Amino acid sequence: MRDLDTPLRIAVLISGTGSNMVAIAEAIEQGRLNAKIVCVVASNPRAKGIAKAQEMGLDTMVFTPDDYAKSTAEVERTMVRAFRNAEVDYVIMAGYMRKCTATLLLAYPNRVVNLHPALLPAHKGAHAIQDAFEAGDKVTGITIHLANMEYDEGPIIYQREVPVLEGDSLEDLETRIHAAEHEAYPWVIGKLAEDKVHLHGDHCVID
Ligand code: GRF
Repeated sequence: MRDLDTPLRIAVLISGTGSNMVAIAEAIEQGRLNAKIVCVVASNPRAKGIAKAQEMGLDTMVFTPDDYAKSTAEVERTMVRAFRNAEVDYVIMAGYMRKCTATLLLAYPNRVVNLHPALLPAHKGAHAIQDAFEAGDKVTGITIHLANMEYDEGPIIYQREVPVLEGDSLEDLETRIHAAEHEAYPWVIGKLAEDKVHLHGDHCVID
């Protein structure tokens, strides 16, 4: 059992802008979140978040699409080795556009967390904000859940509704979704750090 006074050690997995990774890092810096980002992993050398992570002095690990094409298992074995060396408690996916497989999930059972920009099980997949917008949903939102072998499934830890307002453009909705994510993800990671998230059967409960 982790001493709850010590920061939760997290690896953050990204593929793109990394704004959620930055929001988590800022929450830590501002003393709102008792955690430490020990590694930022990018699935693509073009991910803009890599430079942001490096500017913040964080360790980075970068894979290429070729690495995944050759062997996703090998990519994940490399991650697991690095995470074990760095004593990672939780793996935090923040816009990581790759499906985690057994190699990573079995090494960190119920300790891989995903962020999805819709109210799962609605609008699974890579275009969830656009899908909700085009479906004419009046309410969409965000989901933070434990990752399992099925993409965008796994026990839900937290959801927050985000309204789609009359006259919204897709960009307006994206901005509102991202603002909700940037607030909620550090908060949920804080609950993990306080050991207040518990799995009862298939359901997560926050104390
Ligand atoms: C977020 O909207 C997240 O929900 C989705 O990808 C986006 C990543 O944004 N899976 P960023 O890279 O954190 O800016």
